Amino acid sequence: MRAFSAVGGVPRFIERATGAYLYDVDGNEYVDLMGGWGPAILGHAHPGVIAAVAETAARGLSFGAPTREEVELAAAIVNRIDPVDQVRFVSSGTEATMSAVRLARGFTGKSKIIKFAGCYHGHVDALLAASGSGVATLGLPDSAGVTGHQAQDTIVVEYNNFAAVAAAFASSDDIACVITEAAAANMGVVPPEPGFNAGLARLCQENGALFISDEVMTGFRVSATGWFAIDGVTPDLMTFGKVIGGGLPAAAFGGCRDVMQNLAPIGPVYQAGTLSGNPVAMAAGLATLARCDESLYQHLDRVSDQIGSAASSALQDAGVAHTLQRAGNLFSIFFADHQVRNYDQARDQHTKRFAVFFHSMLDQGVYLPPSAFEAWFVSGAHDEEAVDRIVSALPSAAIAAAAVDLA
Ligand SMILES: Cc1ncc(COP(=O)(O)O)c(C=O)c1O
Repeated sequence: MRAFSAVGGVPRFIERATGAYLYDVDGNEYVDLMGGWGPAILGHAHPGVIAAVAETAARGLSFGAPTREEVELAAAIVNRIDPVDQVRFVSSGTEATMSAVRLARGFTGKSKIIKFAGCYHGHVDALLAASGSGVATLGLPDSAGVTGHQAQDTIVVEYNNFAAVAAAFASSDDIACVITEAAAANMGVVPPEPGFNAGLARLCQENGALFISDEVMTGFRVSATGWFAIDGVTPDLMTFGKVIGGGLPAAAFGGCRDVMQNLAPIGPVYQAGTLSGNPVAMAAGLATLARCDESLYQHLDRVSDQIGSAASSALQDAGVAHTLQRAGNLFSIFFADHQVRNYDQARDQHTKRFAVFFHSMLDQGVYLPPSAFEAWFVSGAHDEEAVDRIVSALPSAAIAAAAVDLA
């Protein structure tokens, strides 16, 4: 996606960012709607976060030993999220989902995993099948380098299709876990239908499998706790990333004590990392989470609503068929005239139109995620001026999209 493969043109090289703005090496300024793919919930280079990072870094960068910051961030997560008694830090969302799946297999003694087409959980070998995000953007079937052996334990099911999940359980008693994005946002934004996540949790429980809710994208983003607070379903394991690192490499997985105690050194499931719980990343996460309060979420909801509605009106006025979809303050626009419930429906859209829309916005100083399959991210720094600049760029971008020859 950074290569602009889906939208064409020359990627912008970013020199610095502050608040809601990005600055490229050629001196151009952009209102940012990509938010570093999620971590920049307060806006870029928030002074409180930068001060915490600088103060912590001055005491040393990495110790490979427990630190106060690690315990405090763990406590902040556990205090906010009821189903999480214990948490283990890693350095990326990929590591978090990979480790959660290993833990589920170790705990259940079973091999197979169920994932959903269009959901992205990082570049874990077993989870790349029918993946969203960059894999969807590039239109790749899966990834080279994943062996048949690794792929054969992954059962891919259509998103929002409960009957298909039930059928998968009926055909195998070797399923260790179901992993899903808490609300899918890597094939564009596709919220789970009412009762879908609850049904998954129930099926897992009935079949001796674990339910893993991947909140790397939604956690601490769509509410003070994440999607969990919105649909109230209790997963066995949850994964976090992006916001909890405040822009530095930190991610985590956690769950109930019974399951987590299977991790080494207490239990037999090995997991470790040189940079896990890195103090500087923990300090950035703590300083970020400390500012993620109700007023921030109200602001994010209001701003995302304003921008989403303005984009939809501009496209409507220009006669461009589209569907705006939301999961809390995450939203995206499909250049299609149907509701999107799953990956096939997400792919059935005019991505050529998105590319032209994207470039028109970029030329007018607004940096959207460079793919039709990504959510738009707003931040606490998106003030009235930033929103006005976005809203005034939309009509001509919509007109440019309308002019695309779809033949
Ligand atoms: C839902 C979800 N899970 C996992 C990941 C992987 O995280 P990372 O890129 O930090 O490895 C992502 C990244 O976009 C994500 O959106």
